[in-house]
Amino acid sequence: MTRTGSGPLTPDELADWYAEPDDLGDGTWVRASFISTLDGRVTGPDDRSGSLNAGSEGDAAAFHHLREWADVVVVGAGTAIKEDYPPLPGVALAVVTRGEVLPPTLARAEPDAGEDGTGEVVLIGGEGELTGAQILASLRRRGWRRIVVEGGPHLLASWLRDGLVDELCLTVRPVLAGGDGPLLVGLDVELGRLIGEATHLLVWDGDVLVRTRLR
Ligand SMILES: NC(=O)c1ccc[n+]([C@@H]2O[C@H](COP(=O)([O-])OP(=O)(O)OC[C@H]3O[C@@H](n4cnc5c(N)ncnc54)[C@H](OP(=O)(O)O)[C@@H]3O)[C@@H](O)[C@H]2O)c1
Repeated sequence: MTRTGSGPLTPDELADWYAEPDDLGDGTWVRASFISTLDGRVTGPDDRSGSLNAGSEGDAAAFHHLREWADVVVVGAGTAIKEDYPPLPGVALAVVTRGEVLPPTLARAEPDAGEDGTGEVVLIGGEGELTGAQILASLRRRGWRRIVVEGGPHLLASWLRDGLVDELCLTVRPVLAGGDGPLLVGLDVELGRLIGEATHLLVWDGDVLVRTRLR
């Protein structure tokens, strides 16, 4: 049964809307948090996500809510560089790379980890291309269970190939981008079958925010 609704939502309503299922086993829940166009592109004319999410109140609310919910936000080095990620206040940031160094802006940032690890920046890499399972194991070793993968598509593919994304939280903006910008799921990613079941559909000022269970 798909829950439907319309925004705007208050912070309490958002917390209810994005509540994770009760039956989480060891408590691990992996969410992918993305925004795309109708044609599946994750960047707009500025070659970043900025031109997609500009003016989307619903996307901003969901994006920040998911960060507040998370123990750790995970991004690929490409996104950390392209989107100029700083250390994130109140939540740990894990950057995945095949290399051994953090992107320059993060490497230069002052460490600001709280006792619970919030604000911490960690590098997951140095062993070539990592599978989703390797990345997840590394996060779980640190005690992180509420995991939000913010991109980009290259990193998302590793998690999808291993069937490790529990839920996709996607804002669909009703626009077309065309061109050859990155797709949410790249053309080289074989999933074998259609996956996904919408559990929540929220219409907020013309945008559609979908929660889709992937496993
Ligand atoms: N619309 C959205 O929601 C959204 C979200 C995020 C990003 N984006 C956009 O997407 C574009 C970037 O796409 P992308 O696919 O290149 O991003 P990405 O996955 O963040 O970056 C790719 C890089 O991350 C590292 N990486 C990713 N997965 C890895 C793995 N399994 N093992 C080891 N290293 C891994 C590698 O870094 P090294 O090269 O250092 O090894 C790789 O070159 C940007 O234009 C960004 O603006 C959009």
